[in-house]
Amino acid sequence: MNTEHFWMPFTANRQFKQKPRLLESANGMHYTSSDGRKILDGTAGLWCVNAVHNHPKIVAAIEKQARTMDYAPCFQMGHPLAFEAASKLAAMAPSGLNRVFFCNDGSEGVDTALKIALAYHKIRGDAGRYRLIGRERGYHGVGFGGISVGGIAGNRKQFGAALAGVDHLPHPLNIEKNGFSKGLPEHGVELADALEQRLLALHDPSTVAAVIVEPIQGSTGVILPPPGYLKKLRETCSKYGILLIFDEVITGFGRLGSPFAADYFGVVPDMIVCAKGLTNAAVPMGAVIASESIYNTFMQASPENQIELFHGYTYSAHPLACAAAIATLDVYVEENLFDRAAKLSDFFEQSAHQLRDLPNVKDIRNLGLVCGIELHGQSHKTCTRAYEIFEKCFWEKDVLIRTTGDIIALSPPLIINEEQIAQLFGRIGEAIQEQAKS
Ligand SMILES: Cc1ncc(COP(=O)(O)O)c(C=O)c1O
Repeated sequence: MNTEHFWMPFTANRQFKQKPRLLESANGMHYTSSDGRKILDGTAGLWCVNAVHNHPKIVAAIEKQARTMDYAPCFQMGHPLAFEAASKLAAMAPSGLNRVFFCNDGSEGVDTALKIALAYHKIRGDAGRYRLIGRERGYHGVGFGGISVGGIAGNRKQFGAALAGVDHLPHPLNIEKNGFSKGLPEHGVELADALEQRLLALHDPSTVAAVIVEPIQGSTGVILPPPGYLKKLRETCSKYGILLIFDEVITGFGRLGSPFAADYFGVVPDMIVCAKGLTNAAVPMGAVIASESIYNTFMQASPENQIELFHGYTYSAHPLACAAAIATLDVYVEENLFDRAAKLSDFFEQSAHQLRDLPNVKDIRNLGLVCGIELHGQSHKTCTRAYEIFEKCFWEKDVLIRTTGDIIALSPPLIINEEQIAQLFGRIGEAIQEQAKS
């Protein structure tokens, strides 16, 4: 196999190409590697295959649609599946959020939501609201909007100044106070006050268009909000007429045992960005679910017969993606997968925290079917400890995990069973111990 031509995303290309880790097929909870091993999927691919790999109903829907109509434009045209997919998604979303703008992934979803926020204020005659507020260690994809509101230096430093007028809340990770918390961490709700007391005080609330946060920061290592934190953000945004956007690209579709994290936390934002689990990752798709009132503002403020929002993608509501989304949303309901995740979360938590006393384990954090295991770094080596464990897991333990810096992040498909959960943490535990001796 010639590995030269594929410039791999978020990958150490030269290192990878010396010993490629290849997956060739998938079924249920497992991948099959190119050397024929069954690999237990501890990460739902990339936080996205929530239902199960190759679900027959989703596969059949995509096959059928590919034969029926490969593509149809959605600029001044439409097709029935686009409206059906939007209705189904709206029905699953928290009440009041029921207008759906389709795109192709999470990054486009984030940039779409930020653009809707800016345009919304402008169209209301409040064009002075141009600032966007994100959060340190936030990940909002790789578009210019997303990296600007995102809080990961590594994702920004190669790309110039990014968007102007952006500021960031502090992140709520505090291992000293909250280490090994089970579920939500006890301390840190006051960090939400930084919005009003620092950022709005500094910039003037009347200049701020939107605040965007992930309810749980996934990509930077499972950072959980203290109880009441998201509610405080909601209250402050409402007080000052600022839109609140939840980036639920990871937390959407059952990860916390509810349709969205907004349901889990009982906090309704003005827009939800989702992707990944929307189609069970079988066809790329993202969406922004906006409040009816945002949509109505555009409809009422724009002259009739004129485009209300100058934004869209050739593949917005692609027929294959819509077919996959409709089938996936049905599967979640028919198989009761969100409840299943909720019921499994105690066992998942117990199994995760059994690794607590292993060498180099600095913290374990979990909620729903998400877990982060943070390790002490090793300054004398070029590879992080977590990366060495990831390799060991893949080659020797037959489990797929994900790492970011020195943190292992786990987010298995929601159909995982107790035996597989025990297997997952058991094998990771072995890898942690073996790495410590190496
Ligand atoms: C919270 C969040 N937002 C946005 C994205 C970007 O999604 P995509 O990679 O589909 O563009 C991700 C990807 O992991 C994410 O976790």
